Amino acid sequence: MSNNAPLLAQDTPAWLKLHDLAGFADDINISDLFDSDKQRFKKFHVELDGVLFDFSKHILNDEILTALLDLLENYDFENKKAALVSGNPINLSENRSVLHTALRGTPCKKEGVEDFVKHAMNRIEEVSTQIRENTHIKDVINVGIGGSHLGPSLACDALSHIADGPNVHFISNVDGQYLSDVLEGCDPAHTAVIVASKTFTTQETMANANAIKDWLADTQYVYAITDNNEEAESFGVPADHILPMKDWIGGRYSVWGCIGLSVAVAIGFTQFKEFLRGAAEADQHFLNAAPEKNIPVMMGLIGVWYRNFLDYRAHVVLPYAQGLDKFPLYLQQIDMESNGKSVSNEGTFVEYKTGPVVFGNAGTDAQHTFMQCLHQGTDTIPADFILFKDPIHNYAGHHSILNANALAQSKALMEGQDNEEEPHRYFPGNRPSSTLILERQDAYHLGLLMAFYEHKVFVQGAIWGINSFDQWGVELGKTNAKSILEALNSENKPIKTDPSTESLLNHLCGEKDKNL
Ligand code: F6P
Repeated sequence: MSNNAPLLAQDTPAWLKLHDLAGFADDINISDLFDSDKQRFKKFHVELDGVLFDFSKHILNDEILTALLDLLENYDFENKKAALVSGNPINLSENRSVLHTALRGTPCKKEGVEDFVKHAMNRIEEVSTQIRENTHIKDVINVGIGGSHLGPSLACDALSHIADGPNVHFISNVDGQYLSDVLEGCDPAHTAVIVASKTFTTQETMANANAIKDWLADTQYVYAITDNNEEAESFGVPADHILPMKDWIGGRYSVWGCIGLSVAVAIGFTQFKEFLRGAAEADQHFLNAAPEKNIPVMMGLIGVWYRNFLDYRAHVVLPYAQGLDKFPLYLQQIDMESNGKSVSNEGTFVEYKTGPVVFGNAGTDAQHTFMQCLHQGTDTIPADFILFKDPIHNYAGHHSILNANALAQSKALMEGQDNEEEPHRYFPGNRPSSTLILERQDAYHLGLLMAFYEHKVFVQGAIWGINSFDQWGVELGKTNAKSILEALNSENKPIKTDPSTESLLNHLCGEKDKNL
């Protein structure tokens, strides 16, 4: 740990100011803010072509907003933002650039990047077209986990109404039942397999890939997306079936490149480009809009206000669209794997809170599970409501019910309800939320939405001074799993472990004495 750390967020004047303002936050009532300022919605919303972001239902006034914007200035945010797309190695612990924005066409001057992107796009177009036009192929299985699964499977679900290629299936978890369920629905002679793994060493993915290889009639339709060609080739993937990745494409940010192959197979390359166009539009907005009119910046700042000054621990995301029911899962990786860190870029332990717990589900299902807790529980959990203006189906009445429920929830959270006689009917209210309304559930707006959240996470990581692009926290468990698996699989092989794990291992092994 180094002692000569530069300015951390907590040392900036804006941080101290926000700390003072938090002392008075209990006196702020969101409904009262609307009563006292008829322009509140006008001031606290952003409208772009096809997007409306409302942040008026927050515990936020002009003074707090000014201090939050000052925090950005104090913390040199404009330069940090520029560094993101510059190609400088901002992933310090791995000495890597972070250039997923380049995959969707956002310019980057770093040598070789543009050529690589062109090549990657050509490969996605070529291979997805080959698969889509091959009448022997009825099903495609994407084998991958984490970022090699969540983005593509979210996009395939959200855009299933425009999918016109072979059926795309996903297998991520190393659960044999999951695997057999997926395989049962496919014919080995008519199935293409995409092994999506940047490292090509991920235990779960390789176990599933090996099992599928054994199940396949032959390997003529096996493809790989990886940065480890050697492993892919020794697995049996022909060199011309390997699509490239780069160390500057983080797993959870990889759907925009070749990891998106399964999406291009499902919806076609033209629509895949629309998906990228939406994300590129979000990049331009993020890079150029003034902070108070910048959707990801405002999302990020409001989250910092709640996390660091009001001590809210969780954040809930509620897409009112069944096709986006995996969006919270996808965001859990984007947000929690990026900002669930305790060490600053300078190698010191941070003295403030970082990433919140992120969870959610599609509305209205969420209303029948955890929303009770949001309305009447003892914690305040800020919410994001995500809606689509136009329906993508013919059930216009359903769409109205869905959207009416979303607005009803944010109103109920904010206004609450008095009831002195029956306390169980009392709703405290003053529970904050944002509402994001997108024009349509299409490839363009999905790309825009996903990229907004990527940038929100970047804003928060920049303020917290942490590296949002590594994930060392997943390594220890992986290492342990290897030695424990070895012990589970061998008759007598002892491993050095703790008494609890030893007892559990003995239990799992039944009669077997492991001599641990
Ligand atoms: O969960 C850790 C992680 O490294 C993620 O960041 C990544 O998305 C996932 O594993 C899969 O990695 P790979 O694509 O190398 O199989």
